Amino acid sequence: MSALPAQVRIVEVGPRDGLQNEKAIVATAAKIELIDRLSATGLQSIEATSFVSPKWVPQLADAAEVFAGITRKPGVAYPVLVPNEQGYDRALEVGAREVAVFTAASEAFNRSNINASIDESIERFVPVLERARNDGVRVRGYVSTVLGCPYQGEVPLGDVVRVASRLHALGCYEVSLGDTIGVGTPAKARAMLRAVAAEVPMPALAIHFHDTYGQALANILACLEEGVTVVDSAVSGVGGCPYARGASGNVASEDVVYMLHGLGIRTGVDLNTLAETGRWLAGLLGRETGSKAGKALAAA
Ligand code: HMG
Ligand code: MG
Repeated sequence: MSALPAQVRIVEVGPRDGLQNEKAIVATAAKIELIDRLSATGLQSIEATSFVSPKWVPQLADAAEVFAGITRKPGVAYPVLVPNEQGYDRALEVGAREVAVFTAASEAFNRSNINASIDESIERFVPVLERARNDGVRVRGYVSTVLGCPYQGEVPLGDVVRVASRLHALGCYEVSLGDTIGVGTPAKARAMLRAVAAEVPMPALAIHFHDTYGQALANILACLEEGVTVVDSAVSGVGGCPYARGASGNVASEDVVYMLHGLGIRTGVDLNTLAETGRWLAGLLGRETGSKAGKALAAA
């Protein structure tokens, strides 16, 4: 077993990955309050919203109002999802300084999610990355379905490596590897990361686990042992992709922070403030928090 990292950066994706998948549309003011609360926890990276087609994801149709309404804390990055140049234009109009492009290792999922083949989606990113370079905007890249696809089943590792390498070569400073439907287990997660890290430097990789089968924390630990230092997660365990059958919530940020701190790994995040935010969000959504740590801390 290799040494664990001393420090991990959490990329909080709740306001985007979480709220895109809620049946009820959350009020714009509540989205803004969520992001502002998250900004006060010590998180360095908060994915704020998504400039995709409002017909495809009506839950985030107010992306511009949300982004314009948040108080951007100095030193905190607020990436937003963009699928194409139209999304990039909308994001830049309200002052985004970091965007995230997204594609998948599986053709069938990509077709269902963004109505494009993998190659077509990457063609759409080329002008986005070019403009971002000129505009001084940072670009993150996502590869979905890295450990399984709801439509095609098994996803060959070679496809994950190929897509991740392309995103990195195009200029994504970081590539997040998404187990979109949460089917991975630790040995598979480790092997997948190891294969990608043979082509893309480990400091440029992040992991993004949905927790459908309760494997996310175990998968994260396996990947930490491989040397990954960036972990995506969502406060209160919200999350899911409306175009991925069977996708459930992301691993809860509170649970990840609890585990990391327990391992002696620094995150800069105040766990109590984060857990309180998770419980506040759960209340807003009319349910209990999806974070076990969040629940336990409330009872302690
Ligand atoms: P399309 O229908 O093929 O696009 O959708 P189009 O270019 O033909 O445009 C159709 C209409 O959408 C046009 O409007 C465009 O103007 C408009 P109309 O003429 O019909 O009135 N349009 C836009 N409007 C606003 N913003 C835009 C935009 N683009 C086009 N950016 C498209 C293609 C990619 C747009 C669509 O499929 C889409 O928006 N998909 C988004 C799906 C999505 O957001 N999924 C969830 C995020 S991914 C995820 O959750 C996984 C992740 O968490 C990692 C993991 O877990 O694996 C990241
Ligand atoms: Mg996701």
